[in-house]
Amino acid sequence: MTSTFAPPTPPVRMTDATDLVATPPMGWNSWNAYSCAVTAADVRDAADAMVETGLRDAGYEYVVVDDCWMAEEPGPDGRLRADPETFPEGMAALADYVHDRGLRFGLYSSAGSHTCQGYPASLGRERLHAEQFADWGVDFLKYDNCGDHRGRGPRDRYATMGEALAAVDRDIVYSICEWGQSDPWVWGREVGGHCFRVTDDAVAKWRAEDEEFGLGIADIADRMATLDITSAHGPGGWADPDMLQVGNGPDSGQSQHEPTDVRRPLTAAENRSHFALWCLLGAPLMVGTDLRSVDDDVLAILTNEHLLAIDQDPLGAQGTRVRCDGDVSVWQKPLTDGVAVGLCNRGEAPTEIRARPPVDADGYHTLDCWSGEERASSGELCATVSPRDTAVVRVTPH
Ligand code: GAL
Repeated sequence: MTSTFAPPTPPVRMTDATDLVATPPMGWNSWNAYSCAVTAADVRDAADAMVETGLRDAGYEYVVVDDCWMAEEPGPDGRLRADPETFPEGMAALADYVHDRGLRFGLYSSAGSHTCQGYPASLGRERLHAEQFADWGVDFLKYDNCGDHRGRGPRDRYATMGEALAAVDRDIVYSICEWGQSDPWVWGREVGGHCFRVTDDAVAKWRAEDEEFGLGIADIADRMATLDITSAHGPGGWADPDMLQVGNGPDSGQSQHEPTDVRRPLTAAENRSHFALWCLLGAPLMVGTDLRSVDDDVLAILTNEHLLAIDQDPLGAQGTRVRCDGDVSVWQKPLTDGVAVGLCNRGEAPTEIRARPPVDADGYHTLDCWSGEERASSGELCATVSPRDTAVVRVTPH
C-alpha cells in the first residue's frame, strides 16, 4: 500500500551559515542609542549616517531596530504590526529605505509572549512572524528571551524560530539573545543561530556595581575570559558579548533612566579598550551610538581598519586572555597570518606592559593598530599604556 502522507521536507537555508556569516556581523542597532523611544526617523537618519560617516564603507552592514517598534496589540490574525505613531509607514517601507542605501535591515522580537518592554512577541507564532519578516525584507532578527515562556525551555523556543527562519525564502541572520543563561554557545548553531549572546546587557560604564543595571566593559572582559567557549566560535556562529557602547554617555539609551549618581560615561581610553577587546574577541560589532551627533574621535575608533581586520579575520578565532596580573591583562587572538596581542591597563596610572611575542620565530613584524606604525622586531613586545587603555599589536612572523 502506498501512503499519501508526504514527510515534511527538512528546511534548507538559502545560504549556508558559514557563507552568510563567514565573519562576525557588523551593523548598527537602535537600543543603546534610543532605548524604547526609537522612531522611523531615527532609523532612517542612522541609515543615512552610516553612508555619510563611512561606517558602511568600513563594513558595517545591518541597521537593526531593537525593542519597541511594535504596536501594543498584534493584528487579529496574530501578525505583528508596526507602531502606527512611531513607524507610521510600516516596516516594509523602512526596509526599502535601508536597502536603497546599500545596507541590510534588521528587526527584534522575543522567544516569549512579550518583549522585554512588554510589546507582543513571537512565541507560538514563529512561522507567521518569520514569513512576515521575510515579506517585509528583514535580513537580521535579534531574538530576545523576555515574556512568558509557557513552560518551554530555551533550546526548544529558539529552535522553533530557527526552523521558521530556515523555511522562508530569504536569508535572515538569526541572532540569539538568551543572555548566556543556558549556555547558548553549546546549542546555538544546532538551532540555526548565527550569533549567541553570552552576557547580560553591556552598559556605557567601565564597571557596573552589583546593585546597578547591566555589566561594564571590564565586567564583560572578565566574563569572557572565564568562559571556555572558543571551540563554539567561528565562521557560521559567533559568541556575542553584546552590542557596542563606544561613544555613549549618561544620556544614551537606557543610561538616561538611571539615577544621575551611577552614570559614568566611557572616557576616550575606555572607548578604545572596549572596541579593542570586542575586536580581539571576534565579536559581532553592532554600533549603538547616536550617529547624528557622533564625533570624529569615536568614528576613528569604530572605523579603525587594523582593528576591524582583526575582528573580521577569516580564521574566525576567538581571542583569549592569556595573562591577568594586577591591573595588567594580555589578550591574544590567532589570525590567518600571525597573532593579535592586546595589552590592557586596567589601572589608574600609565603602565609599561611587556609580553613575550606569541609567534615562534626569531624575528617578527609588528603593526601598532592605533598609530599604524610598523616595525621589524625581535624580543619582547612592549608598550606604555594609559590608564584603562589597550594597545593592540598585530604580530606577523618573518
Ligand atoms: C534586553 C536585551 C537588550 C535589549 C532589550 C530591549 O533583554 O538584552 O539588548 O534588546 O532587552 O528591551
